[in-house]
Amino acid sequence: MPARVLAAVLASLAVPAMGVANASEPTAPPAVPPVPSNGLAATPPMGWNSWNHFAGRITGADVRAMADAMVANGMREAGYIYVNIDDTWEGDRNAAGEIQTNDKFGDMKALADYVHSRGLKLGIYSSPGAKTCAGYAGSHGHEEQDARQFAAWGVDYLKYDYCGARDIYPVTQRNQEMLFRKMGAALLKAGRPVVYSLSQSGEFDIWHWGPQTGANLWRTTPDISDDWGSMIQRGFRQLELSTWSGPGHWSDPDMLEIGNGAMSTDEYRTQMSLWSMLPAPLLAGNDLRTMVAATREILLNREVIAVDQDPAGYPARRLERQGDVEVLVRDMSDGSVVVGFFNRGEGATVRLPWSKLGTRFGKAVEARDLWQHAAIDTRSPFVTTLPRHGTTLVRVTPHG
Ligand code: GLA
Repeated sequence: MPARVLAAVLASLAVPAMGVANASEPTAPPAVPPVPSNGLAATPPMGWNSWNHFAGRITGADVRAMADAMVANGMREAGYIYVNIDDTWEGDRNAAGEIQTNDKFGDMKALADYVHSRGLKLGIYSSPGAKTCAGYAGSHGHEEQDARQFAAWGVDYLKYDYCGARDIYPVTQRNQEMLFRKMGAALLKAGRPVVYSLSQSGEFDIWHWGPQTGANLWRTTPDISDDWGSMIQRGFRQLELSTWSGPGHWSDPDMLEIGNGAMSTDEYRTQMSLWSMLPAPLLAGNDLRTMVAATREILLNREVIAVDQDPAGYPARRLERQGDVEVLVRDMSDGSVVVGFFNRGEGATVRLPWSKLGTRFGKAVEARDLWQHAAIDTRSPFVTTLPRHGTTLVRVTPHG
């Protein structure tokens, strides 16, 4: 076959590949200047998100029920404020290009009003792609229109998932950065305070350039699952990135799996402890209507939440490793430190002289076990026995 004919045949068979621009689209989105900070999320956001438990089954009625549950079970009072709808709420666009909800959701303004009437805030989800990860309508080409629509509905939080943009533009840092900036600028222009959360898998070291997109948090890993290995790997990964995370701009190792059923109570306590030590956003991902007491105690542990929400937002660091037990420490704004003993193996007993925490801790100290809610006798070195995959958290205050 002559080369010319072969080329024509191949061209007629060609389909756009993932990550390759369509002929009708430019290969790169226009440049957008850095987006200033919106001043939100001084501490890591706290709330609930629909994806981990409901995935595509979430409905507007479920979201109302979660808001009711968060009021009734004390989560709202403990600081869980955002009720976040993840993917699959989207319908088609109308003739004016305005995004509609699908039948599972109906009137989004009414839903936002309902959530606000419960003293909570509403979150929503979209993508810079034409399609979201689950194949619903994304914001591509409608960024400002969607930002205005979200503001008009009363949305307070946006999770913006790169996903479908992979089908439009080559996947480069520049393209991701410009598309995320585009929505960041659109949200500011729309004028409503909206926490801006980026979702991809930590590609191109997003923690280096996330702040210039105007975002308040960005995912640093692929999706979490309700599994010990998945959870612990994501949590410990953040330690290497800690210098990039702080007030207004947080690394996000993904949502909580606490209460979803496939991990043990000790493992769920470990997720709560580790996310609070890092610190990371606390977005519950379980069905809040059917929480067992152990789940409630974990999510509502005020002493641990106070660690996560410490206003200084200092990061945790690794003090040492004793066998399978990782010892992390984190400075608190009041001069105390929190020490986390994370057992990544089978049952273990570990010991720590208080002076190991620094010269300030060489004399008398006061210490409190944040899971036992009890004072610790500090006259001798600290000793704790940890179950398999268990955690002990201790807050230590020096005297004099
Ligand atoms: C991606 C995100 C998830 C979730 C789904 C929804 O996988 O990482 O957190 O939002 O999309 O489709």
